[in-house]
Formats: sequence, C-alpha cells, structure tokens
Amino acid sequence: MKIQIINGPNLNLLGTREPGIYGNDSFESFLPKLQAQYPDINIDYYQSNVEGELINKMQEVGFSYDGIILNAGAYTHTSIALQDCIRSLKAPVIEVHISNVHAREEFRHHSMISPVCKGIIAGFGLDSYRLAVEALRNK
Ligand code: DQA
Repeated sequence: MKIQIINGPNLNLLGTREPGIYGNDSFESFLPKLQAQYPDINIDYYQSNVEGELINKMQEVGFSYDGIILNAGAYTHTSIALQDCIRSLKAPVIEVHISNVHAREEFRHHSMISPVCKGIIAGFGLDSYRLAVEALRNK
C-alpha cells in the first residue's frame, strides 16, 4: 500500500510556528515515528508553500497511490484549483488539520476541499495524520 502525505503552506514551520496551536514537533521528527508504526505501508511525504506545486504532486501520485493525506493549510479555505484537482484523481484524499478549525476563526470554518474529499480529520494534533492512515488502510 502506498500513501502520500502532502502538507501545504507554512507547515514546513511546524515546531516553531504558533506552538500553542500546532505543537512543538517538526513534521520531520514526527514522520519516522509514523512510518515505524506502519512498516507494511509505504508512506511518502511532500511539502510545498506553492499552490501549483501541491497540484503537481497530487496529479503525479493521484492515479497510482492508494490514498493521499492532504493538509492544504490556508489553501483549504480558498483553493478552487485544489478542489478541481482532487475531483479529477482516482486516489481517495483525506483532508487533515492539526488544529480543530471549527473552534477557531470563522474564516477557517469553510473548506473548499471538504466536498470532494473522502473524509476529514481535524483537531488531534499530529495524531490527525495517523488517524488518516488508519482510515485509508481500513477502507
Ligand atoms: C491547518 C489549519 C488552517 O486553517 C491553517 O491555515 C493551517 C493549518 C491545520 O493543520 O490546523 O495552515 O490546516
């Protein structure tokens, strides 16, 4: 089984960015622990701050991988291009957020991508990604 994790803008700053909201761990320190929990699954990781690069990666893996775990960061709330991309892919996409976006500012309550994702996991810190792996492997 092959799963691609994709993180969008500013998520390269995890560990230093607003630790009260996003925690103290970088994604680079979290990822090997996640991979070690699922030795039978190939879990790849990609991060970009650039919307078009996220789309390029989604198109690259979206017809051959078994699933995509996408934290689109702030593009979640704005991107019609990401929505169009997700609709076009074969692989299921799970929308993930570290924080509970519904407990935060109003502009974070709306997601452009939720209607085209298989499901949404939000609010469990970095464990949101593990829960998304669980969802994909049990599908
Ligand atoms: C986020 C929530 C978004 O609203 C925000 O713009 C992010 C991170 C999260 O993981 O909680 O960059 O996707």
